[in-house]
Amino acid sequence: MSGVALDQAPLDLAAIEAAARLLEQGRLVALPTETVYGLGADAENPDAVARIYQAKGRPQDHPVIVHVAPDADLGYWATAIPAEAGQLAAAFWPGPLTMILKRAANIPDAVSGGQDTVGLRCPSHPVAIALLRSFKGGRGGVAAPSANKFGHVSPTTARHVIDEFGADGTVDAVLDGGQSAVGIESTIVDLSRLATHGPVLLRPGHISAEAIAAVIDAMPAAPDAAAPRASGTLESHYAPHTPVAMQASAEIGETLARLKNAGKKVALIHYSHFPDVFAESQLPTSPEGFAHALYAALRAMDAAGADLILVEAPPRDHAWLGVNDRLRRAAHGSTGIVHGLLNHEPFS
Ligand code: TXA
Ligand code: MG
Repeated sequence: MSGVALDQAPLDLAAIEAAARLLEQGRLVALPTETVYGLGADAENPDAVARIYQAKGRPQDHPVIVHVAPDADLGYWATAIPAEAGQLAAAFWPGPLTMILKRAANIPDAVSGGQDTVGLRCPSHPVAIALLRSFKGGRGGVAAPSANKFGHVSPTTARHVIDEFGADGTVDAVLDGGQSAVGIESTIVDLSRLATHGPVLLRPGHISAEAIAAVIDAMPAAPDAAAPRASGTLESHYAPHTPVAMQASAEIGETLARLKNAGKKVALIHYSHFPDVFAESQLPTSPEGFAHALYAALRAMDAAGADLILVEAPPRDHAWLGVNDRLRRAAHGSTGIVHGLLNHEPFS
C-alpha cells in the first residue's frame, strides 16, 4: 500500500483528518461504513473517480454512490427532489439507505455512469461521519463503491480491504473502523421516477421495503427493465473464488457424506449443527446476525482450500430478503460447476 497507512483507532481524529486531506488531493481512501467498507474519492473530481473504477476493475458505465455528511444540502447534489426523499432522509439517515434522485447539473458524469440520476447516502459509522464532516468542511461528497474488486465479496473489515488492494498500491489509505455492523450493502430505493413509477427497490438491505412504505405511504416495487442499472443487481455478484451452492438444511447431511466419499472438500456456512466438516463457519440464526457475519464467513471459507462452499439456505421470508439476495448472486456464477458436483455426475 503506498501513501500514508492509517489504521486501528476507531475515532483517531488526526488519522481521519489526514484521510480527508488525501481525498481533497484526489487520492483514494478506504473508509468504514456500517454496511461494508467503501473505496472513497472526491465525487466532484472526475480523475479521482476514474481511479476508483481502475482500482476495482469496474465497467465505466456503473454509477457509484455519493456519501454525504449529516445535514448535507440534497439540493446541491440532486434536482426535482420529491418530498419523500426528505422524509426518508429524516427517518433513516444517517443509516444504510441509498436514494436515487435526478442528478444536479454539477455532478460529474463519472459518478452517475452517464445516467441522469445520482445515488446519495449518509452513512452512520462514526468514522465515516467524521471523515465526511472534515472533507471539504462537510460540503463535499465522497463517491464510494464497496472496496472490493468488481464482482467479488464486499469487505466488512479493514483487513478485507487490504486483502483486496494491499498489493497493487492504488489505495492511499485505509481507515479502520472495526467490523461493519450491518454487514451487507445499503438498501437502494429509486425515487427518480416517483411520479410515474412510484418508488422502486433496486437492492434489498437492512432497511426493508415495508419500513420505507411506512414512511412514504407507498410500497417500493421490484425493478422493471427501465429502472436505473445497479451493479449490485447483476445476476453474478458478491462472489468468492470457490464455487458456492445453497441447499436446504435437510439435504446437507447427505451432500456432505457423498462429497466426502468422492474425495471433495466442502466448506460449510450454516446455522444448524453438522458434525465432521472439512471447514465450517456457523452463523447466528437471526437475519441481522447472519448478515453481519456473512461476508467474513464467505472470505474465510474461500481461503479454506475447499472444492465447494455449501451454504445452508436461510428461511425465505421477508426478513431474510437482503441475505438471500446476496447469497443467490454469490452462487450464480458457479451454477455449472456445482451442478456437476451435486448431481451424481462423474467428478472431474
Ligand atoms: O452500503 C453501500 O451501499 C456501500 C457502502 C460503501 O456505502 N456501497 C456500495 O457501493 O455498495 P457499490 O458501488 O458497490 O454499489 C452501489 C450500487 C451499485 O449497484 C450501483 O449501480 C448503484 O448502487 N447506484 C449508484 N448510483 C446509482 C444511480 N445513479 N442509479 C442507479 N444505481 C446506482
Ligand atoms: Mg459493490
